[in-house]
Amino acid sequence: MPKKFESKSKKSFSNDEPTLAPVAALQAELCGFKIASPTMLASGVLGISFDLFPRIIKSGCGAIVSKSIGSEPREGYRNPTMTGVEAGYLNAIGLANPGAEEFARELEEEYSKKPVPLIVSVFADSGEHFGELIRKFDRFSFLGFELNLSCPHVKDVGSEIGSEPQDAAEVVKATRVETKKPIFAKMPATIINVPDWAKAVEASGANAIVAINTIRAMKIDIQSRKPILSNKIGGLSGSAIKPVAIRSVYEIYENVKIPIVGVGGVTRSEDAIEFFLAGARAVQIGSALGQDYLNSFQNVNRGIREYLGANHFTNIEEIVGLAHR
Ligand SMILES: Cc1cc2nc3c(=O)[nH]c(=O)nc-3n(C[C@H](O)[C@H](O)[C@H](O)COP(=O)(O)O)c2cc1C
Repeated sequence: MPKKFESKSKKSFSNDEPTLAPVAALQAELCGFKIASPTMLASGVLGISFDLFPRIIKSGCGAIVSKSIGSEPREGYRNPTMTGVEAGYLNAIGLANPGAEEFARELEEEYSKKPVPLIVSVFADSGEHFGELIRKFDRFSFLGFELNLSCPHVKDVGSEIGSEPQDAAEVVKATRVETKKPIFAKMPATIINVPDWAKAVEASGANAIVAINTIRAMKIDIQSRKPILSNKIGGLSGSAIKPVAIRSVYEIYENVKIPIVGVGGVTRSEDAIEFFLAGARAVQIGSALGQDYLNSFQNVNRGIREYLGANHFTNIEEIVGLAHR
């Protein structure tokens, strides 16, 4: 199945910039499948729109991560759910999603007609419930699952059940037995012992680690003297969190062998390259898409290709982890 995506995507990347490094330079290999570019859509940021996804892939995105899906439909928090802050955004959408039944129907009726390289993100309050979601979606043909062990502002799920290495490992074990598809474990931003967390999920069968989710944060309006978000606490994303994400990827790389996907503050190609040097094989882009979602991927990809060509590298693999030498 991934082969189908590979050849399709390669085609859409047929390079019209002959002075730069070869097209192959942009390919990324993750958990046994190849994606045409190393820039992926981060979970949640553009929701779940099977109509929009083919356009995003065509614009240079290597793979799409769906909004996190839970077992029941959730409306999420009431407005305001998002606000701008210095160098980023604060959001508390509250894991709004259509629920597993409806998402399975959309996979069946919409996605199967227009498949794209897709990773399905899921959240639940226990390993058992994660396992049920995996069982529900596993029959559909997509690249893999991302486990949201890291949302920082919803009770009983996300970082509340995924922060401790043993707890994260239990969830991975419970999902591992339900699928042969690759499992991406998404790490919370505020893990105290990153090496233990990373080793625990690797030992339990995760095929890759995604780092990081947003960071618990707050903004207060000084006139009303109240927190701006209806949930009061939200998740900080964007450039402000990039150094935390880079440090996380760097630490994970020193401790495990499975691939790492870096996420947090990727806006320009330089950000993505920094993640590769820290040890990531691919990156996800979220907040930056708020500015310009159709050009972001191709701009970042173009800059990566230029950097590789200018420094005489032939592919991304050659620069992964170079900052560790
Ligand atoms: C509006 C919004 C919604 C998000 N929803 C989810 C989600 O459903 N699941 C998840 O794992 N991460 C979610 N995230 C976190 C992003 O996937 C990403 O980890 C984070 O925003 C850092 O990347 P960025 O700085 O490029 O935005 C969301 C982020 C934003 C801004």
